[in-house]
This record gives sequence, C-alpha cells and structure tokens, in this order.
Amino acid sequence: MSNEGLKKIKELKFANKATLNTELKKNNEVKVKKEASPRPSNQLEGSLLGWYSVLSSYSLNENKLYSFSMFNEPLIIYRDNDSNIKCIKDLCPHRGSSFIGGEIKDGELVCPYHGARFSSKGNCTNIDRITCNHIVDTNYDNYAKKIHLYQYPCIERDGYIYIYYTGKAKTDINEFNIESKLEQTIPDTYGFNISEYEHEEVTVDFKADWVRIIENHLDILHIFWVHGETIPDKDVSKNVITSFDQEIIRDKYQIQSKYNHKDKDKGEFITIKFIPPGRVMIYKGAPETSRYVQVLDHIPLAQNRARVIVRHYRKFLKNKLLNRIIMFRQLQHKLFYQVFKEDYLILRTQTFNHQMGYIEKDNVKLLGEDKMVQYYWDWLQNAFIRDKPWELHPTTKNTNSIHEDMGMLYPPENPSLAIKNMRSIRMNTLIRALIPIGFIILLI
Ligand code: FES
Ligand SMILES: [Fe+2]
Repeated sequence: MSNEGLKKIKELKFANKATLNTELKKNNEVKVKKEASPRPSNQLEGSLLGWYSVLSSYSLNENKLYSFSMFNEPLIIYRDNDSNIKCIKDLCPHRGSSFIGGEIKDGELVCPYHGARFSSKGNCTNIDRITCNHIVDTNYDNYAKKIHLYQYPCIERDGYIYIYYTGKAKTDINEFNIESKLEQTIPDTYGFNISEYEHEEVTVDFKADWVRIIENHLDILHIFWVHGETIPDKDVSKNVITSFDQEIIRDKYQIQSKYNHKDKDKGEFITIKFIPPGRVMIYKGAPETSRYVQVLDHIPLAQNRARVIVRHYRKFLKNKLLNRIIMFRQLQHKLFYQVFKEDYLILRTQTFNHQMGYIEKDNVKLLGEDKMVQYYWDWLQNAFIRDKPWELHPTTKNTNSIHEDMGMLYPPENPSLAIKNMRSIRMNTLIRALIPIGFIILLI
C-alpha cells in the first residue's frame, strides 16, 4: 500500500474513534481503554479475544432472541426497550436454564423456566415471582443483587452487530476494559464505503473447524478448481488456472494480498484481506475501484462448528424492483449454497486431519500462492498460545449437543433452508410465466 493509502487509513481510524467511544458509552456504558500511539510494524497484531461481528442489524427484530455461541459458550443477543443491543451469556442466574424458548416482554428478557424478568441493565425486576414471600420480605436486596445476567459489551455499527468477546461474561458491564479497537475491524477503516453498494447476505454453518474455513477464504488457488463451474466469471474456470504476480502487504492491523494478472494490461484480478480475529474481505479487482466486494465474518461457534456470514456488496444491479423481478436474492442464495457445498467435504475432512495432528509444518508443503495462509498461520499460532480461547469453556465428547442440534443453518444440515429457497425460485418463476398467459386469456 502506498504511503498516501496508509495515511488515509490512519486518518479514518482516528476520525471514527471519537464517534465509536461516544456510542459505546451511550449504549453499554463500558470503559474504553486509552489507545497507545500507533507504531510502525509489519507484524500482524490482534487477539483471538476481542471484537467479532456476529450478526446483521436487520436480522435482529424487536422482541427476538438470537442464540449462538462463541468458543463453546452459548450466548443470546436481543434488543432492549430502547432498541439497544444486549449480549448475555445464555444462562439464567436463578436455576441455570437457557433463555432459548424465553421471550422479550416490554424490553425485558423473560426466562422460560420460572418467569424471572431481567431489565436492560441485567438485574431481576420480579424477584417476588421466583421466591417465597417471607424470603422476599426480609432479604429482597440481597437476592436482587445475586440474581443478575452475565453480559458482554456489544455495539451496532454500519448494519453490523459486534460483540466484545473475552470468554468471561460479567454482571457489571463497566468492569470490562476494552483493549482492542473496533476501528481495526470495521470495513470503512479500509476505504470501503458500504453506502455506495447494494448487498445480499448468506449465513451458513459448517461442522468444521473455524480456522479451516478462514484458510479456505484466503486460498486463491482452490477457487479455479473447486468453484470453476459455479462462479459466474469467465476468469474463474478449471481451464484457465494461472499464476499471478502476488504482492503481500502486512501491517499490525491486516494482511493484504493483491493478485495481479501476469498480463499487465488486465490489471488486478483480486485482493484479499485478513483482519483479525475473523474477518476476510475480498475485492474483485483493485479495492479502490472494485464493483464487487465480499465481507466474510467467521464465528467460532464451537470446536467443530463455525458460522460464516457472507455479505456481497455490488455497484451493479442496484434497482430493488428489478432485483425482485429477476429474483436476484434467491439466485444468489442458491449460488452460495452451491459454492459452500463444494467446499464442505474438503473442510470437514481437513478438520479431521488437523485434529489428528496430520496438518503440521513437515506434512504439508505451502506453495508461493499460499503465502497468505502462511502469514495467517504465523499470527494464529502465537494468538492461540497467548489467548487459549478453547480452554475458556472446554467441552468433551459427552457434552450435550443441544446448541448444535437446534442451531445449524447450513443447508445440508438444515435442508429446509435450501428447499425454501428453491420453492421460492420455482413459485416466482411460475408467477412470472402465468402473467402473460393471463393477459392473453383476458384479451381473448
Ligand atoms: S431458571 Fe430462570 S427463572 Fe428460574
Ligand atoms: Fe471455497
């Protein structure tokens, strides 16, 4: 990246910081640790614990509980009565029920077991509902203090919901020290203005290791071979496997790889960025002029289960009515389900090989174009040693699989999603075919 580009990123970062700190304090009243002055580095920093984008704003309606997990720990996200986002550990502090099956009433979270209600701040507001009168009468304050939700800081920004995940939820949200900066993760830090683009979104779950999926998205070579017949781009095909002039730029916030065509007149083919801990951005062509950008958020749900939210932004086909007529959203879903299906077997078997310890330095040989994966690994190995995220909520093979059973969003594991999408395509095609026939009948 040019000096000019780096300067621009820094300016944007500091401009956004003031707004973000105000928002955080307003929404969640969390403390924001003062930023140390930036220092030049080509070593990627960032922790496995910190800001994760876990959901789109529009996916979270009022009165809806969104259940998921991070590094095995079940969590719930919802909106309180001021529409602020709340993220809590999915554990009722009365008798340890999950909130799955509970509800939001007047902006308060209601437990499905005995009906305890929790305010936006996390304290129980109807303790008399869950204790006998003589206890309430004499010890109300003590009980009210004990029964309190466990929370994580969270914020909504540019249509994304981010949570600050540490693995240690707290009853008092003011006790968190926010050590990593959200600005490092948000797309506009990297010169990508989402308001200029139209977008579609697909969410899928894999029964595979989180790391393998991120690697898959940093691996340019496989798209020609695995997805060559699915991706509608004449440059992507089994027959046109080519090598690129690769340029890798690293700083403390991201690893960026530009793949330029060998034929200089054709310019840049693709740019891929990895932004810790789980975001990948893929630009078709040069980032500054790209007409198609993907933002992929990878969420480590559990040891063998990961969620990917793919948002694909485009500068073409922005007319909403036209998009509805040609069923753009449904067709994009179909395309992405197919792309992920093509990856799925590889990801699952690679997960097994990793868990068996077969994917180690001496067993696999990374090639030139795999440099991005190599740099990702360099960062990841240090981060795992330092943060040990899987040791925060360890599970065993006997651990109850309720969250896995209820939550899988990937079509092969949850075929109703793909069936619904196909049904919508067929139904809409039929309606479009019947309209002219109806006109003809009327005219006759
Ligand atoms: S376990 Fe939640 S109210 Fe009793
Ligand atoms: Fe893939």
